[in-house]
Amino acid sequence: MEVVHISAECYPVAKAGGLGDVVGALPKYQNKAGITSKVVMPMYRTPFLYTSDWVVDYKAKAYMGGWEFEYTIIKEVNNKLGFDLYLVDIAGLLDRQKIYGYADDAERFTAFQIAVVHWMSHWNHRPTAVHCHDYHAGLIPFMMQHCYDYHHLRSVPTVLTIHNAQYQGWMPWAQSVLIPKWDLSKKGLLDWGNSINPLAAAIKCAYKITTVSPSYMQELMHHANGLETLIASEKNKCVGILNGIDHEVWNPATDTYLTAHFDVDTVTAGKQKNKEKICEQFGLDATKPLFVFIGRLVGEKAADVLPAALHTAVGAYGAYASYMILGSGDPAVEAGLTNLAYTNKNIKVSLGYNESLSHQLYAAADFLLMPSRVEPCGLNQLYAMRYGTVPMVRSTGGLQDTVVDMGDAGGYGIRFTHANETDIVHAVGRAIEVFENKTHLLWMRERMMQVNHSWEQTVQSYTNVYKSL
Ligand code: ADP
Ligand code: GLC
Repeated sequence: MEVVHISAECYPVAKAGGLGDVVGALPKYQNKAGITSKVVMPMYRTPFLYTSDWVVDYKAKAYMGGWEFEYTIIKEVNNKLGFDLYLVDIAGLLDRQKIYGYADDAERFTAFQIAVVHWMSHWNHRPTAVHCHDYHAGLIPFMMQHCYDYHHLRSVPTVLTIHNAQYQGWMPWAQSVLIPKWDLSKKGLLDWGNSINPLAAAIKCAYKITTVSPSYMQELMHHANGLETLIASEKNKCVGILNGIDHEVWNPATDTYLTAHFDVDTVTAGKQKNKEKICEQFGLDATKPLFVFIGRLVGEKAADVLPAALHTAVGAYGAYASYMILGSGDPAVEAGLTNLAYTNKNIKVSLGYNESLSHQLYAAADFLLMPSRVEPCGLNQLYAMRYGTVPMVRSTGGLQDTVVDMGDAGGYGIRFTHANETDIVHAVGRAIEVFENKTHLLWMRERMMQVNHSWEQTVQSYTNVYKSL
């Protein structure tokens, strides 16, 4: 079985969030399970590119609209990631440092997809499946089936994994010229709400759709940023498969970013050492419970609620706790949090993306706050659990599927219903109570660290999807 994953992100090559983590791990564990699983992604100018060895695999010209462009496919030669990794270079479009956020992202990702399909159409064999991730690869199933030049890829099955349906890659119809000559009678497959919608096109054209948790699959039928009826009508080809985590990367016993290593038997002392280091670095008191938020400062993560909620929590619980926020995003939220940190010595903010600090925080924190409005799976809570940090989550999507409230039998986390100040402050109060009860806290830590979210157990669910095609 040969599977080709197509994605905009893949850790450690380029990562903006959980999509990168998943595409950097799932193929590795698929290969371990005997599936030849490969990854194809854009060749951004990130450090990984310059610290790895590459060979040119293919070079050709393709068209996007009237523009003829040259693309080059390079392949990593040392199997550094545990799978074959291919990067697509297109001068002027993909040769940049960042993954997203450019005015010409529609052209960038369309050209990337054209190059991938053009390249695959020159292979002298057909893969078992082409597995597309999110909207950045969403035009591929349509192109394989309805672009005249790629008709011979028509019989290759495609899978779409929806990591986040909030982002759909909308393009005005004027940009339809970018897509290589296609069967105009199939216009309806590209369209959703009078624009080209790459995610909707993939939902219509892919043979199978997976979402990154079972609850998110159900939620999408009612909350899918405009795609609800489409998802509902395609539900027979949809399946929710909960993400795993890479236990080799996220292991507190070996994680090279940590000050002190620990496992389930040494969790109390190990976490305290990591906490002392972080508290010393940021000027916090290591005897207080440490609450951490890590993530994109956007509405989906309910980051906008954080400044007011933390302000009230500090008012309610005074000097009983410390808070640390790592993230970047909405400038208003960044400013709100920065101002709060100026006026309160128990709150610290680190703006920006920092992989090493994120690992240190998962290890150092007592509690990880995730009040997300939308959370298709969420990996932060899984990493937190692996590092003995109590997850505090809003009951939604994958958070609901992975965190059991400490009030329920066998529970090791804190759940709440609303992404608002009242619920967050109440949850902080419950957390402070459990922090005072060291026996219960240790029991919860030991329990959560032993929950198995490894990819090994998830890989089979994807294999079943490929087998069904
Ligand atoms: P999403 O993909 O929606 O952002 P996930 O919970 O699936 O949410 O994954 C987020 C990933 O990004 C995790 O690996 C998390 O540690 C990481 N992350 C998010 N923000 C930052 C940041 N500012 N610095 C370092 N890592 C971050
Ligand atoms: C998306 C989702 C997140 C999920 C990740 C990996 O970014 O927002 O919830 O964990 O993809 O699937």
